Amino acid sequence: MTPEEFRAEAHRLVDFIADYRRDVERHPVMAQVAPGDVRRALPAEPPERGEPFDAILRDVERVIVPGLSHWQHPRFFGYFPSNGLLASVLGDFLSTGLGVLGLSWQSSPALTELEEVACNWARRMLGLSDAWSGVIQDTASTSTLVALLCARERASDFSEARGGLQETGAAPLVVYFSEQAHSSVQKAALLAGFGRAHLRLIPCDAAYAMRPDALAEAMARDVAAGMRPCAVVATTGTTTTTALDPLAPIAAVARAHGVWLHVDAAMAGSAMILPECRWMWDGVESADSLIVNAHKWLGAAFDCTLYFVRDPQHLVRVMSTNPSYLRSSADAEVKNFRDWGIPLGRRFRALKLWCLVREQGVEGLRARLRRDLENARWLEAQVRADRDWRVLAPAPLQTLCVRHAPAGLDGDALDRHTLAWVERVNRSGEAYLTPAMLDGRWMVRVSIGAYPTERAHVDALWTAMRAAAHATDETQAAS
Ligand SMILES: Cc1ncc(COP(=O)(O)O)c(C=O)c1O
Repeated sequence: MTPEEFRAEAHRLVDFIADYRRDVERHPVMAQVAPGDVRRALPAEPPERGEPFDAILRDVERVIVPGLSHWQHPRFFGYFPSNGLLASVLGDFLSTGLGVLGLSWQSSPALTELEEVACNWARRMLGLSDAWSGVIQDTASTSTLVALLCARERASDFSEARGGLQETGAAPLVVYFSEQAHSSVQKAALLAGFGRAHLRLIPCDAAYAMRPDALAEAMARDVAAGMRPCAVVATTGTTTTTALDPLAPIAAVARAHGVWLHVDAAMAGSAMILPECRWMWDGVESADSLIVNAHKWLGAAFDCTLYFVRDPQHLVRVMSTNPSYLRSSADAEVKNFRDWGIPLGRRFRALKLWCLVREQGVEGLRARLRRDLENARWLEAQVRADRDWRVLAPAPLQTLCVRHAPAGLDGDALDRHTLAWVERVNRSGEAYLTPAMLDGRWMVRVSIGAYPTERAHVDALWTAMRAAAHATDETQAAS
């Protein structure tokens, strides 16, 4: 494809994307395909001869789009929102089009320096002090792994430079997180080599937040047993209920034992651009590392995780390799972000965040998040006012945990009913919701915040939820 051919095809592709976003509401929110449908609709063999781009685009329309669940749909209420606002999409496209790689500052100076600027903008937007240094990683999962590797190295006096995990005789290092922490935390701790026997799932209070007293007790028990507390991962906005672990008392416990505090604000971090929400992470300045997924509610196209650290020199010491072919005369004056994370090569991710913030302005971003919070308060009021429905957990942000619990239905029967009505909503294509378990029973998460979602869509969802629950009641009564 020549640049001139690219120009023509890219115009058509942009038209396609613009039409898709404009008309996305016409699609059923959840993909209506069965497992294997997409694979079977495509040839098993690669084409021997090149095909016109037109043919590829036709297959996108014929096979790919019907095989999608539509995250940018106004009635997408599943998981957490993953908004890719169109300005950010352009930034991502630009990044790919420029085709540059950040291996070192010299390999693409603007890539590094725009990332510094974008991270500093984000830091200011979030109300964080200038004691933090930021870098963009792909995901929260990778960033938490990096944080736990750094915690391990700090606690073990840089064991990686000696025997590493094979070092014998050292007291085991222990990691603490709440039983509501995201699965990526456990995965990171296991991958970082702590071993399942040295992970402590700290109990939560009635609001599903980590109990600092239980954390302190767990650490004291481990110390008495000859182990070394190494890291605590606290969550601001847990995945199931958006619970808020109390950072200030957790930080006090962490400090008393000299352990690393990592804050997972993957979802709720976006809300910290709203000054009125910052109480939710009161104490965050005492943490050692922190993540915010700009690719969730904020609107940066996936993937774009902001990783902030207090001590970048420590991070670089743990992550740096510095082979001769990557050194340059500028190294003493610049940041080499390859030493701030796991991969060597980095995409120009800062572009999509920079484009988003410039096009929306901080005020624009704040206005959308406030709209979503108001919509969540409205839905919460509707649910609470209906005697057959329950709100199951505090909803400080835009995610509600609900259950339809008509009189006489409980236990396994209630679970079956919950899964049946949510499946009915999802299959209808009207809306998309995620069921999840809370206290051992199924409930449904309603996560508001897709960028095109207005009050009318939330209203339509509430109608669809009640209709599905009612229809499921009738089905069960008839069976
Ligand atoms: C609180 C929390 N932490 C971590 C993650 C993992 O995010 P990522 O997909 O960026 O690894 C999620 C995903 O929803 C989350 O809700």
